Amino acid sequence: MFNKDFLWGCATSAFQVEGAYNEDGKGLSLADIRSLNINPAEEPTKALANVGDKIADSKVASDHYHRWEEDVELMKECGLKSYRFSIAWTRIFPNGDDENANEAGVLFYDNLINKLNEYGIEPIVTLYHFDFPNGLQEKYGGWSDRQSINDFDRYASYLFEHFKGRVRYWLVNNEQNAMIRRDGYLGIKETNILKREQIRHRCNHHMFVACAKAIASCHRIDPEAKIAPVMAYAPHYPLTGKPEDVLAARNVNDLYFHYMIEIHCRGEYPGYYLRWLTENNWLPEITDEDKAILKNGICDFYAFNYYRSNAAVACPKDVPIEEVEKFRVDARSRMLPGLCKCTANTYVKESSLNKWRIDPIGLHIAFRNVYELCHMPLMICENGFGAPDTLESNLQIHDDYRIEYLKEHIEQIHEAILDGIPVIGYHVWTFMDVVSTSEGFRKRYGLVYVDRDEKGGNLNRYKKDSFYWYKNVIATNGESILEK
Ligand code: BG6
Repeated sequence: MFNKDFLWGCATSAFQVEGAYNEDGKGLSLADIRSLNINPAEEPTKALANVGDKIADSKVASDHYHRWEEDVELMKECGLKSYRFSIAWTRIFPNGDDENANEAGVLFYDNLINKLNEYGIEPIVTLYHFDFPNGLQEKYGGWSDRQSINDFDRYASYLFEHFKGRVRYWLVNNEQNAMIRRDGYLGIKETNILKREQIRHRCNHHMFVACAKAIASCHRIDPEAKIAPVMAYAPHYPLTGKPEDVLAARNVNDLYFHYMIEIHCRGEYPGYYLRWLTENNWLPEITDEDKAILKNGICDFYAFNYYRSNAAVACPKDVPIEEVEKFRVDARSRMLPGLCKCTANTYVKESSLNKWRIDPIGLHIAFRNVYELCHMPLMICENGFGAPDTLESNLQIHDDYRIEYLKEHIEQIHEAILDGIPVIGYHVWTFMDVVSTSEGFRKRYGLVYVDRDEKGGNLNRYKKDSFYWYKNVIATNGESILEK
């Protein structure tokens, strides 16, 4: 049984849904720049080549900035209990550290949050979802400089003060562990591979300290609010029973995911992570003040995004650094020499629609792994199925594949609840179609179709079959799934 207060919700992020990327005083973010493909040479991944003018970018996105009222009416109709979205830092402080907040930007979120509150939809607000201000990047190099810690805390504190009593759940940052693998989101231009990796780890550390500092500010400013970071989580299984492969899977899980939980929930870097950084000459400066901030900024619950699982095998020590770098962003084949190499799990079926190896049981495993480390209430902030949808001539969208995916994953949440794990909410990625970070509008996630593609489109909204299905799940508090 799902608790009666269970937060059945949906999620989006600012740069993927709002559009109006330079309207009403908004400044440019690194996510805008990456999406607009201004500097494709900085992140020459195959996926990025698909983004930009060829599909659709953050200039217009889903035009939520202008159509938010229509969107919230649809959320009400669907019966959402919560809506997870992000605030664009550059709408509030266009350059990241402006003396005064941008009134028009603040007003947009005032209106949105007030309407959600009026409709009884819990606003769950991410402070930072990949969209660091370009102004600060140009001024001092973004997260690679310590100043970013104070600037983030100032921005976060402004929001805690302003929305005190109106926002009860805050999410600090989205998928820091995915972000540090993507140089476009960090604005890294260094060409030397070793130095580049050192910068990534410095950015990572500054983000951890900024996160802890913002959590402490939230506790001070609005003690009633709850706050947590959001991690990208994909459990990795050993491909075989060989001890070397079992250890390799453990290494992936620890070095990509679990170390974060230890820092966020215990306020300390775990030994295996410090060893890995030190042995590779990547250890950033960690001051006594940093250590105290980390200890003082423990989150209230833990949040993660889950899409699929993966497998791992042992990896030789002598893989050339160029090879490692080549597969850095690709979760299906990345490697850490001497420690682990990711590989496809052939025991998990591959979807013909999007080539994902879909693993609902992996979500149950994820809950057990995460809870074991944090012993805090857990929230799923993203789970969804990305695929091209077909808008039929009668304006219907029959996305039974998405319904199947969501159903199978919600069943596994129930399994975790039966295990005694306090799961407080689940958010489908996404409510309406948004610009996918890797494939623009070619890959859709929404319960609501947005008429937009590389040729344009009228941006009209159409409810997909999954919209009606989820509406019923919420109305029956999950019973419609469990009783079958
Ligand atoms: C998550 C991100 O990692 O994956 C989202 O938080 C993103 O912003 C989602 O959209 C799906 O990935 P993609 O590349 O299909 O958009």
